[in-house]
Amino acid sequence: TKSSIYITRKLPEEVIEPYRKLFHIRMWEREDVPVPRDLLIKEVKDADGLFCLLTEKIDQEVLEHASHLKIVANMAVGYDNIDVKAAAKLGITVTNTPDVLTETTADLAFALLMTTARRMMEASDYIKADHWQYWSPLLLAGSDIHHKTIGIVGMGRIGTAIARRASGFGMDILYHNRSRHPRAEEQLHAVYADFDTILGKSDFVVSVIPLTKETERMFDQQAFEKMKQSGIFINVSRGGVVDECALYKALVKKEIRAAGLDVFEKEPIRKDHPLLQLENVVCLPHIGSASVETRMEMARLCLENIRNVLNGEEPMTPV
Ligand code: GLV
Ligand code: GLV
Repeated sequence: TKSSIYITRKLPEEVIEPYRKLFHIRMWEREDVPVPRDLLIKEVKDADGLFCLLTEKIDQEVLEHASHLKIVANMAVGYDNIDVKAAAKLGITVTNTPDVLTETTADLAFALLMTTARRMMEASDYIKADHWQYWSPLLLAGSDIHHKTIGIVGMGRIGTAIARRASGFGMDILYHNRSRHPRAEEQLHAVYADFDTILGKSDFVVSVIPLTKETERMFDQQAFEKMKQSGIFINVSRGGVVDECALYKALVKKEIRAAGLDVFEKEPIRKDHPLLQLENVVCLPHIGSASVETRMEMARLCLENIRNVLNGEEPMTPV
């Protein structure tokens, strides 16, 4: 008899189709709205595999309802939405989607850095509001990017891919990570630094660090105070690593120049969010890995992980 898998969001049929002969596939019917939690809890009861997104909190309660479950495949590289310890105790494998999204996410991080530094959203809004009268020497003048210092906090795959882009712009590269990264030091001339040094010396501080108990709100009031007044903060990892209230205050008090954010403490943010009221903040709706190609690859990788585990094989990308 075929195994059952539950998918928490409507995916394109072309991704699912090849797996229909292998599994009984049930899927939440909406593409734009997450599955209600009570329905998720009901659906996991009979599932051998669960395909979920970062919008689902897969905690002890969900896992305990899932007496057949062998694998939770998260369609994201970050997995702070999953209680990995509880899963391990119950013998449930957890997988994520590293590698396939590395370059796409690094592209977005660098685009966000450039957009923020060169005030491109403000500039576009300026024309759309019909404010453009004359060319002027300092009209919408921003900060240079080339030959400035970038400080990458979290030198994993994505951090390293951002460093490669920075290297092409002639930037000096500082990085902070739990462990040293000899290859980035050799090939990209990236220099290891402690967190405070990164904050004090970087023109761009880029957060690519996963959210854990240790990294929660590591960008707090003191961190922003240590940054240069001309410094720009970029976050493409998780909103939970930032104290948003402290970031807002630092921006208003001009302790830092600008911020570019793809992620927020509580998503989605709404129009009345304080950070959205500031001209020098660029906000994106968590689209780091959102190219069509990469999102399709992420979905396929989740399904491959599920197939492997339900076949009694090793998953490709266990966490
Ligand atoms: C997205 O944020 C991811 O973790 O893949
Ligand atoms: C984190 O997992 C990364 O890929 O940078």
